[in-house]
Amino acid sequence: MSVDRTVIVLAAGQGTRMKSSLPKCMMPMLGRSLLGHVLFAAEALGAGRTMVVVGHEAERMSAHVAEIAPYAATVLQAQQRGTGHAVRVAADALGELSGTVVVLYGDTPLLRRETLAAFMGAHEAAGNSATVLTAEVADPAALGRIVRDADGGFESIVEFRDASPGQRAIREINSGIYAFDAGALREMLSKLVSDNDQGEEYLTDVLGMLRRAGRAVGTHTAEDVDDTLGANDRAQLAQLQAIMRDRVNGGWMRSGVSMDDPSSTLVDVTVRLEPDVTLRPGVQLRGDTVVESHAEVGPDSTLVDTSVGAGASVVRAHCVGAVVGAGCAVGPFAYLRPGAVLGEGAKAGTYVEVKNSTVGSGAKVPHLSYVGDASIGADANLGAGTIVANYDGVAKHRTDIGEAVFVGSNSVLVAPVTVADGSYVAAGSAIAEDVPSGSLGVARGRQHNSQGWVAKRRPGTKTDEAAQRSK
Ligand code: UD1
Ligand code: CA
Repeated sequence: MSVDRTVIVLAAGQGTRMKSSLPKCMMPMLGRSLLGHVLFAAEALGAGRTMVVVGHEAERMSAHVAEIAPYAATVLQAQQRGTGHAVRVAADALGELSGTVVVLYGDTPLLRRETLAAFMGAHEAAGNSATVLTAEVADPAALGRIVRDADGGFESIVEFRDASPGQRAIREINSGIYAFDAGALREMLSKLVSDNDQGEEYLTDVLGMLRRAGRAVGTHTAEDVDDTLGANDRAQLAQLQAIMRDRVNGGWMRSGVSMDDPSSTLVDVTVRLEPDVTLRPGVQLRGDTVVESHAEVGPDSTLVDTSVGAGASVVRAHCVGAVVGAGCAVGPFAYLRPGAVLGEGAKAGTYVEVKNSTVGSGAKVPHLSYVGDASIGADANLGAGTIVANYDGVAKHRTDIGEAVFVGSNSVLVAPVTVADGSYVAAGSAIAEDVPSGSLGVARGRQHNSQGWVAKRRPGTKTDEAAQRSK
């Protein structure tokens, strides 16, 4: 049995109340844009066609849609003349319309697949011309109100600004999620007028018009009010993100992830975690991040597109596009940049920055180092303050540090250079020539001690007194 469904998502508005240079529907929330969340939920409807109405910053929005939902088409609503006008623009672009048309607004990111499925079930079971998803809320604020007739049936939707004091007292609100019989929608769209406070064509009027024409118009109450919430300003955006955060974290904790403080833990919906992962307070996991079992992340760490192997520990670190192998130790205070790949059991310790480099299994970079465009062999050890000088001011060059190499503290390895397998570098060296296998590279001035210098040049100082005493 195939279903004939079309999805229209309205996303042409600027989102004036956000006061943002980014179009509202592109604003991010835990791994997707607001629109991205709506499209993700709508995908499960299996619609044959999905149309996103764009207007404000149309080019940017269209590019965004092409990136996140290549199956969807976009249509331009050049002037934002209201939600009804927006749907008419979409319907005209779609041409022939049949079956059910689902209309969603691009600013309701908490809408879930199961809520949409229950809503569609109710619409289809009732055989309505139109069904609207509603919710009973404590504070209906400026949302559209559901007006009912004497028998409790649907009568109309009244916008807050057009509502009488009596209607404003109604607490059942319009979520902005609708299902229409395609023919009925098309018929009423052509009759829409804009005789309201905003002078716009309201999609909400279509439902009242259908009702007055004697068609079946129904409501379906959302089980979870949160699913219907829209984000109109940044305070609402933060409230909605907090709800989404609780949902995401709740889901992970139920599948075996420990969180010391879920309220300070932000996990994008795109992240994957294994059971027995522990997340300490102040952790942010972004994008395509994956954390395997028994790994511990945090406190205070941000991981973007980073994978962390089983049993690894990442403490107070910022990692972007990095691969942390099983059993690794990262931080405290480490910065792993794109292309940093740590083999099993490796260490990138305190105040260590690694970029576009592999650190072999068991190799250690424990303190105060920069490693860029290098490969470090297994079991090598870079002493405190080792710097890989990869940039000569014009181009970047590679450094090859072999297996079990020991680099003494405060050394600079000037790329391009090779420190071969099984060699040593003396502390304080500036290595600009290759060090062959099995040898010690020393590249520093020799020490000279000037006998009696303190008595001659610093007589009577505390240092001199100490020297006298030790004679
Ligand atoms: C709308 C509803 C209101 C409902 C609320 C739920 C109408 C008239 N009002 O109000 O009943 O309670 O949503 O969140 O529908 N858009 C366009 N083109 C336009 C106008 C809007 O694409 O010409 C898009 C916006 O980008 C947005 C969505 O439609 O994604 C809703 O518009 P918005 O201005 O946020 O409507 P509300 O005032 O929230
Ligand atoms: Ca809105």
